[in-house]
Amino acid sequence: MKRVIAIAMQKGGVGKTTTAVNLAASLAATRRRVLLIDMDPQGNTTMGSGVDKSQLKRSTCEVLLGECQLADALIPIEHGAGFTLLPANQDLTAAEVRLLTLPIGRETKLRQALAPKRNDFDLVLIDCPPALNMLTVNALVAADSVLIPMQCEYYALEGLSALLSTVEQIRAAVNPQLAIEGVLRTMFDPRNNLANEVSAQLIAHFGDKVFRTVIPRNIRLAEAPSFGKPALFHDKESRGALAYLALAGEMIRREEESTGAVRALAPITAAPSPQVVTPPPPTPPAAEHGAPEGAPESAPESTRADHTPGTPLADTPKNSMGMAPAVSAAPLAEDRSR
Ligand SMILES: Nc1ncnc2c1ncn2[C@@H]1O[C@H](COP(=O)(O)OP(=O)(O)OP(=O)(O)O)[C@@H](O)[C@H]1O
Ligand SMILES: [Mg+2]
Repeated sequence: MKRVIAIAMQKGGVGKTTTAVNLAASLAATRRRVLLIDMDPQGNTTMGSGVDKSQLKRSTCEVLLGECQLADALIPIEHGAGFTLLPANQDLTAAEVRLLTLPIGRETKLRQALAPKRNDFDLVLIDCPPALNMLTVNALVAADSVLIPMQCEYYALEGLSALLSTVEQIRAAVNPQLAIEGVLRTMFDPRNNLANEVSAQLIAHFGDKVFRTVIPRNIRLAEAPSFGKPALFHDKESRGALAYLALAGEMIRREEESTGAVRALAPITAAPSPQVVTPPPPTPPAAEHGAPEGAPESAPESTRADHTPGTPLADTPKNSMGMAPAVSAAPLAEDRSR
């Protein structure tokens, strides 16, 4: 699962940073080596990881401007299994202005800087700023795929079409491999009719690209950054932490399924050698924080928008729009407490 994933959506406040920090922690909990890159001058990913953005000696700014190697700016984040952070602060705004003055190569600065370290990590997550600017373009050029967090509300759909057209332009110009990793429904409230309608439109348009995991609105996710921790290490039983574990599990499962599909096709394209035994995909070992083996896969079904708990997916009842119902309604009181 070696991939660079940009977490992008130019609309502000949709949960990009919350997704970046909590997904990094959840993937690290499965013993994957994760690099989290803060590409936002707000430095929220940096602070949310427990690093003081006002004390940075080196950051994404210096890396983009070629003033230091990426390796020299990395900070180990020790929560749980841990991940690695390339931090940022407001200096990144100045870096963007300087990039814009470059006659050539300004879109590829992050990709070039990342190249020597890319193979040191299983996953690289890039938290983008709320703009389709040169920083976001650098992230999309460096990425293999883009993960799009969306609040299911009307204006979000407008933002989505602008982002998709940018992705199209970047594919045409410089990064033809750039794929859509998935659309993630964030801060989801199943009691909100508009949220359910927008969710249904997303599924109609993007099909399987919409993650089945939905992220509920959850107070623990909102308060964890003030402790400088991912929610997993603030309250690991909270619905928010479990939802991000479920998302990590869904991403891993998707990857294993696509690898399995390629393996299944192998005998058609090449004669199988009797000596070669293809090992099964590695099972993630138990996380240090105590999550059971395969915890992401076993996260509660309430985090899966189109799955009624206790029923096989194929039998999921459909609503009047022909869609499976959104998240099973959890009691409000539970959400407030956890
Ligand atoms: N699932 C959630 N439940 C409750 N609060 C959330 C959730 N996700 C995000 N938030 C809160 O919503 C606010 C915006 O989230 P976040 O910073 O992750 O969005 P963003 O897209 O990164 O914003 P920006 O565009 O400014 O970078 C934050 O205060 C965050 O704590
Ligand atoms: Mg952010």
